[in-house]
Amino acid sequence: METLLRVTDLLVRYGERVAVGGISFTIERGEILGLLGPNGAGKTSTISCISGLREPDGGRFAFDGSPFAPSADASARARIGLVPQSLALYDDLTADENLRFFARIAGLGSADARAAADRGLALAGLADRKGDRVGTFSGGMKRRLNLAAGDLHRPALLVLDEPTVGVDPQSRQHIFDALERLKAEGRSLLYTTHYMEEAQRLCDRIAIMDEGRILDVGPAAALAERAGLPGANLETVFLRLTGKQLRDA
Ligand SMILES: Nc1ncnc2c1ncn2[C@@H]1O[C@H](COP(=O)(O)OP(=O)(O)O)[C@@H](O)[C@H]1O
Ligand SMILES: [Mg+2]
Repeated sequence: METLLRVTDLLVRYGERVAVGGISFTIERGEILGLLGPNGAGKTSTISCISGLREPDGGRFAFDGSPFAPSADASARARIGLVPQSLALYDDLTADENLRFFARIAGLGSADARAAADRGLALAGLADRKGDRVGTFSGGMKRRLNLAAGDLHRPALLVLDEPTVGVDPQSRQHIFDALERLKAEGRSLLYTTHYMEEAQRLCDRIAIMDEGRILDVGPAAALAERAGLPGANLETVFLRLTGKQLRDA
């Protein structure tokens, strides 16, 4: 494997409160890495730093082996795309207009922005709704478009913050298909979720996070082995490592 992003000793504090307590992990080229943890584990704080939205209180990053500051390096935006948990779309614009607008913001010229919007509509499974105002879309359709909006400039690493929360089963399946398509293209994905089945199904490796710490990282089967529970499902492993039932969290 070839490491795309290395995160070392990442620390995030809000006042006295430590939200991320010095975690280290890597994202390998072409993999889907899952960041699995309950509400409050520190997932959003972690990816806010990776995508340059927040200045960490400590820690280092390397991209492709070179030191890298997501919040300061000019190249960061081109390398790392973010699909935020909250929707960032204009209800009064059509799906196509939204994607073209965000493609221009991402720095694409108008012809490239048009092509990127078409690609994004296909990725979201919304090509037939391209001329409809986003305000008329279901929550699931908006989430699919939100995903496409984060990927318009085709960053090497796409970071997704709980993209399936509150999404209907059909749109959830569309989102899984889209992520698998991106992976098949050789892209790297960091996927945060508190859904076990999703992590188990989609992710090549899973980092189990709780209370600002990563307790273990690896393929689901390796996590089970190391927890002394060979063959156990992720839910059982999570319970062993954290003492928590994730579905109640
Ligand atoms: N802007 C903020 N100000 C104060 N505390 C925050 C802020 N954002 C998150 N926190 C706290 O930091 C911890 C981690 O939050 P977060 O990174 O959002 O976790 P997750 O995404 O896993 O739910 C939580 O205890 C949360 O309450
Ligand atoms: Mg979160």
